[in-house]
Amino acid sequence: MSAPSPAHPFLDGQPKALFIGGRWQATDAVFETRNPANGQVLATVARGTAREVDAAVTAARTAFEDGAWPRFSPADRQRLLLRLADLLERDAEDFARIDTLEMGSPIRHTRGSVALLVDLLRYYAGMARGIEGLTAQPSDPDMFACTLREPVGVCGAIIPWNGPLWASVLKLGPVLATGCTLVLKPAEDASLAPLMLARLAEEAGVPPGVFNVVTGFGAEAGAALAAHPGIDKLAFTGSDTTGRAIAAAAGANLKKLSLELGGKSPNIIFADADLDAAARTAVIAAFANSGQVCSAGTRLFVEQAVHREFAERVARIAQTLRIGDGMDPDTDLGPLVSARQLARVCGHMDDARTAGATAISGGTRLDGAGYDQGFFFPPTVLVDARDDMRAVREEIFGPILATLPFTTEDEVVTRANATPFGLGAGVWTRDVGRAHRLGRRLRAGSVWVNCYNAIDPAMPSGGMKASGYGREYGRAHLDEHLETKSLWISSR
Ligand code: NAI
Ligand code: MG
Repeated sequence: MSAPSPAHPFLDGQPKALFIGGRWQATDAVFETRNPANGQVLATVARGTAREVDAAVTAARTAFEDGAWPRFSPADRQRLLLRLADLLERDAEDFARIDTLEMGSPIRHTRGSVALLVDLLRYYAGMARGIEGLTAQPSDPDMFACTLREPVGVCGAIIPWNGPLWASVLKLGPVLATGCTLVLKPAEDASLAPLMLARLAEEAGVPPGVFNVVTGFGAEAGAALAAHPGIDKLAFTGSDTTGRAIAAAAGANLKKLSLELGGKSPNIIFADADLDAAARTAVIAAFANSGQVCSAGTRLFVEQAVHREFAERVARIAQTLRIGDGMDPDTDLGPLVSARQLARVCGHMDDARTAGATAISGGTRLDGAGYDQGFFFPPTVLVDARDDMRAVREEIFGPILATLPFTTEDEVVTRANATPFGLGAGVWTRDVGRAHRLGRRLRAGSVWVNCYNAIDPAMPSGGMKASGYGREYGRAHLDEHLETKSLWISSR
């Protein structure tokens, strides 16, 4: 039984079951999920294995082919998504609080996320009515030819812990808009919001088997889903290492795959920029969600003439951020998600220091009153860093930012692109020509000029190079869930 935890309607002391074929199913094996701010157990969660994944895939296949779901019209699917959005809006506070309790993100941040996700569901509701093929004009006058857009089928999704509700809604929205079905495997550090979303889907009237959630470990439930021959399309968000293993497993039975694998995104500050706005945004770009953001701007390239002054300005702002339990409404940065993630961040910091970098803010884990039961690391700004240091090459997923001076535009483009990753890139300048040039020359799925991490349901997002392939959000996201069939009808 769970230890006492902050009052939350979902934290009722009951073990959390799997959701398969519209039924809640307990397992013998369970694991604990904890609050990273204080180490308290929040709940025990079902530890799904290959057997439960198989049952969920079968349920998703049945729902895709038989029963009510294949007969849902675009208008029906739109209404369903609008209903789900309304319910999420109704329960917004519960969802915000569960993510804060389970993975540490400040409540202000999780509240903001839920509001954006309600909007995202309404966007997909509209897209359910916007699926269209084309009519061609073959040169043979007796031939009629058109394309049909058909749902790709049973989808699988394996998601990370840094935005559990966000990732769940982002995977479910296009599935419901297109008429696919889904088996979702949450991250072991953040199972609760996905399970609450399943309850909401049930209430909204999502037919049994259309949305299934199998909680469990990556090496068990995750690997089984990646390898399962009954999945038509798999979406994965997480580390590049796990992404490679999943791509190999998915390749064995040629399922379609989209990957979002994070990065080491450059944020480039030219001396002519609005340096106030650039510094404020650089702090958010690197440290929001304690740096546990796939597109975090962690390589801060600053034009030599203003480098030191700018680095100090960023460090000063970082030092004003209030670090603590995410449930406190005044908290700017919460804990890291787990002891494991804290150890990883500390390891990178030690490495950077040994390699000659200096922290001008942060740099050591926080302990003492309010911190000693949790996994807290302060926002850290490095100077004396070099492009070839491990902490500057690898994704850390923690609040560590390296400032790197540069002198010319060509030089900074070359250095910004000299990474295996290509997810996001920021550019700060008042020079319009330069904004256009860098917008094209930076090898990243998104380039933000005089802003960072801008997001809209209509704008595709995804990676180049080792940051993955496929796009989420926008029409491109729908396309990932649709097959194109060419239909030919001869009138001869
Ligand atoms: P991970 O990539 O191993 O985990 C993500 C998801 O994959 C989880 O649901 C996990 O259960 C599942 N998984 C793990 N091994 C699997 C396997 N063999 N087959 C199928 N599924 C599997 O990430 P982890 O270990 O939680 O974090 C490690 C690092 O990954 C972080 O430090 C960060 O650099 C990166 N990361 C990047 C994210 C992003 O959004 N780009 C999100 C989370 C982590
Ligand atoms: Mg946790």
